[in-house]
Parts: sequence; C-alpha cells; structure tokens
Amino acid sequence: MARLLVTGGAGFIGSNFAHHVVAHTDHHVTVLDKLTYAGNRASLDGLPEDRVAFVQGDIADAPLVEDLVADADAVVHYAAESHNDNSLHDPRPFLDTNIVGTYTLLEAVRKHDVRFHHISTDEVYGDLELDDPQRFTESTPYNPSSPYSSTKAGSDLLVRAWVRSFGVRATISNCSNNYGPYQHVEKFIPRQITNVLRGIRPKLYGAGRNVRDWIHADDHSSAVLTILEKGRIGETYLIGADGERDNRSVVELILRLMGQPQDAYDLVTDRAGHDLRYAIDSTKLRTELGWTPRYADFEKGLADTIDWYREHEAWWAPSKDATEAFYAEKGQ
Ligand code: NAD
Ligand code: TYD
Repeated sequence: MARLLVTGGAGFIGSNFAHHVVAHTDHHVTVLDKLTYAGNRASLDGLPEDRVAFVQGDIADAPLVEDLVADADAVVHYAAESHNDNSLHDPRPFLDTNIVGTYTLLEAVRKHDVRFHHISTDEVYGDLELDDPQRFTESTPYNPSSPYSSTKAGSDLLVRAWVRSFGVRATISNCSNNYGPYQHVEKFIPRQITNVLRGIRPKLYGAGRNVRDWIHADDHSSAVLTILEKGRIGETYLIGADGERDNRSVVELILRLMGQPQDAYDLVTDRAGHDLRYAIDSTKLRTELGWTPRYADFEKGLADTIDWYREHEAWWAPSKDATEAFYAEKGQ
C-alpha cells in the first residue's frame, strides 16, 4: 500500500483516477484541490473515507504543500488550469497554477525525496497537418500554440530540469484528449451532450474539421498507474488509444446516439490559433511497460458517457448556464 497525494483530484481526470485507484489497488489517496470553478467535491462522492481524504487548498501554497508531501509516498500531479478557451480570455491563472504551482510541488518533493508523476498533454507538441502521416512521439520538439499549452510545456520543462539538476525522482506523461464521466461542461464532448439534453444545438468551431485523438479517462488512469509502478525515472511516456476523429464526426455521432438528426448543429466562430490535429504514437508505453487501453470502442464509450450525463444532471446543471453565457459573449 502506498500513500498517494493526488493534486487536482476533484477535477475531471483526477477524480477518475481516484475512483480507479480505489477500485484497482489498495493505495490510500489524499486529494489536494483548490476547488476552482472546475473542481467539484461531488466527483469524489461514494469513495470510502478510509481510502480517500480531501484537502481544499492551492498547489502554490508552499507550507501546505510541504506538509502534505512530507506524508506521501508519491505525488500524482493533475491540478491545472486546463481549458484553452479560458486561457485565451485570461492567461494569468494558467501561469500561477501550471507554472508556479508545479514549481512549488517540485521544491517540496525535492526536499522530502518523494516520487513525482507529472500529468501533461500532447498539446505541448503543437499541431499536425490533417494529412500528415506522422504522429507525436516522445522525441517530437515542443511547439505549443496557446497560453494553456505553453504553460503546460513550461511545467514539463521544470520537471525535466528538477530531475537533471536536483535528482528528483519524476516521470512525465503527455496524454491525448480525454472523455468520460465528471468532465466539465465547458469541454467539447460534455458541452454538446448537455446542449442536446437542454434542447440547444451543438456548436462546432470553424468548419469542424479539426482532429482530436480521444481516449477514455479510465484508460488514462490505468496508464498513469502503470507508469507509477514501472516507469523509468526521468522518462516521458505518451498516452493515447488510437482514437483520431474530426470534431464534426464526433458531433454527428452524439446526435445519432441521442436520436437527433445528424445535421442539427451550428458552425460558430473558430477558436483563435486553433490547433488542427493531435495524434499520439504510444508505442513506448505499450512495448516498454506493457500497457494497453481497455476502451477500444469509442462509440460504446461515448454512449456510456451520454448515459452518465443523462443520469447526473444535478452534477452538471449548476455550471451549464454560466458556461453558455461565456461562450455566447464570444459568438461560440
Ligand atoms: P480540470 O479542469 O477538470 O480539473 C483541474 C482540477 O485542478 C480542478 O479540480 C481544479 O479545482 C484543480 N485546481 C486548479 N488550480 C488549482 C490550484 N492552484 N491548486 C489546487 N487545485 C487546483 O482538468 P482535467 O481535464 O481533469 O485535467 C487534469 C490534468 O490533465 C491537467 O494537468 C491537464 O493539463 C491534463 N490533461 C488533460 C487532458 C484532457 O483531455 N482534459 C488531456 C491531457 C492532459
Ligand atoms: P476542447 O474540449 O476544448 O479540448 P482541446 O482544446 O484541449 O482539444 O476542444 C476539443 C475540440 O473541439 C477542439 O478542436 C475545439 C473544438 N470545440 C468545438 O468545436 N466546439 C466547442 O463548443 C468546444 C468547447 C470545442
């Protein structure tokens, strides 16, 4: 049994990880989460109190972080400002949390010699052309496009520097776009599902041709556990499940699964600097550490996700109106 400190564990992927750890291991989890607009305590409901503790706080609060890190065997660092559209509107919190917050955690794990796993994104690599046969690998040069992805890239580089200069025992993973339960309604898939549930037409940016490489959040969790257990210190692992789809086909599938005409969506103002395509080659993780995803069928995973949002309106309804008001102001 290990004691895991999970930052951002009340957010989308961090809460999925807490559920996964409780179901598949005997580790103890302490969640450290600031409960920003994106955090929701209810995402941890139902988890046993003797396995999961919750601390509300900021990862940039050095004394608090040091106390918690001193009691942990490993830190799994999910906490971040995570939404590109918000980062275009107000970049500052992205610097505070993604850069200064990560720095604060690194200094604490350095002092207490605690194992660290840093959760990052494939967006640090920039984007690919639609017809490019290449996918991102661990050696693709960093080329981030947005305030969000540039602060995530900066945090990755801090981790690499703390490994090399101070001998911190860290690994990094860069994952593709996640979907599944507990995702905030600002993000693409839950926004469109909850729009349909509310009788609003889905909104596609630009022509809807941008491609994302989808992975179920539970597969992301199993990959992170694998890296924690077997990953080599100082290494980066890309996490992906061969799930490339363009946004238009995802919206059409949501509409079909929800019994709506497949053309019942609107094309709206494109995102500034909108990355065209992400695609992950996860060969290293699969061959070196023996990981494989379990959710191979995107349509089935999406149908389950739609059911989850149908059944959990009380979880998402409080955020929906403010989210749509934010988009409406930008013509999106
Ligand atoms: P999210 O926005 O749903 O959750 C982020 C969580 O972090 C929230 O609970 C929030 O309250 C918390 N948080 C924010 N600032 C904090 C601070 N200063 N101190 C403590 N807690 C704070 O994000 P997510 O989609 O779950 O993403 C989690 C991580 O995974 C991020 O690091 C993100 O870059 C990475 N990632 C996300 C995706 C994706 O598809 N969503 C893909 C690859 C990587
Ligand atoms: P998003 O979920 O914001 O993730 P990311 O920007 O990290 O990829 O968006 C996924 C894709 O969907 C991206 O190409 C932008 C697009 N998008 C829409 O077309 N409509 C929307 O309402 C949203 C939120 C996103």
